[in-house]
Amino acid sequence: MKTFSPTLLLWYQQNKRDLPWRHTKDPYKIWLCEIIMQQTRIAQGLEYYNRFVRTFPSPRFLARASEDQVLKLWQGLGYYSRARNLHAAAKSMNGVFPKTYEGVCALKGVGDYTAAAICSIAYDMPYAVVDGNVYRVLSRVFGISTPIDSTEGKKQFTALAQKLLDKQFPGDFNQAMMDFGALVCTPQTPQCEECPLAKKCEAYRRGLQEKLPVKAQKTKVITRYFHYIYVEQGKFTWIRQRGAGDVWQHLYEVPLVEGKNEKLPSTTLKKWFGSAKVVAVGKPVKHVLSHQIIYANMYKVILPAACKILAGFQKVPAKDLPKYAVSRLMQKLLERV
Ligand code: ADE
Repeated sequence: MKTFSPTLLLWYQQNKRDLPWRHTKDPYKIWLCEIIMQQTRIAQGLEYYNRFVRTFPSPRFLARASEDQVLKLWQGLGYYSRARNLHAAAKSMNGVFPKTYEGVCALKGVGDYTAAAICSIAYDMPYAVVDGNVYRVLSRVFGISTPIDSTEGKKQFTALAQKLLDKQFPGDFNQAMMDFGALVCTPQTPQCEECPLAKKCEAYRRGLQEKLPVKAQKTKVITRYFHYIYVEQGKFTWIRQRGAGDVWQHLYEVPLVEGKNEKLPSTTLKKWFGSAKVVAVGKPVKHVLSHQIIYANMYKVILPAACKILAGFQKVPAKDLPKYAVSRLMQKLLERV
């Protein structure tokens, strides 16, 4: 217990990654970074962070943007509710980033993890972050096998992280945990030979690195079959904005028929396009999300100019398509047409 934090902080001083948000105390920028970096690789996140800071240098700029503009800038990062919450939160703060822990917690899309990260890094407040890195490092070093997705586990790891937190340098301590988990105590094949904590590590002593942390439940993954139909109507095409309660909320897409298997459901097609010929464009692709595997196909149909547009769709010039925020899958498929 006593040597954990000093050892970790020393390691951080010598090995920390040079990241742009580590040269600022601006809570707005730190908030942007934390929202962007959740479930994002550093290399990819960096690009988006720089883009967001450049386009929206303060909460006022972000609040003034349209949701479509924010989603477009976010395109490709995934978990689009993060972008929608980011925008809503910016609008709620009246140009001033909250200065208290409670104020930060009240922001849309900010949970315990993000609040602790922002308040410790920007304001030096003594809140320990608990993310995947923290679960991994602590479960291994202290040999804790309580499932991390149980109420008890959450409580236990949060209390331990809070106890270990260096109250003088909480921001450094938290970011040290993140870097240490990303660079040394990695999910697969951790770098135990180079680890300054190995001598004290329970998992290392007992050879349990691969067994810890313990997760009680396996994530359920469902399989879906998407059939996208690109409409060519002269210089125009059809799109619609996705609704609530499913992936890619508020992003745009071309007409989609969801099927039960790889076969294109013909009844919907007849209803939509009558006898017009629908032809496949390219091969099916597999698109993996955190809880879904989507097998997707792209088709194309050419419709006469007189053909009326279906309810719920918008007819837009095909050349304007790049202006709309779309999922990475949609973008990939659109490249074919
Ligand atoms: N991942 C999320 N937040 C981070 C941070 N502040 N530093 C490094 N990696 C992170």
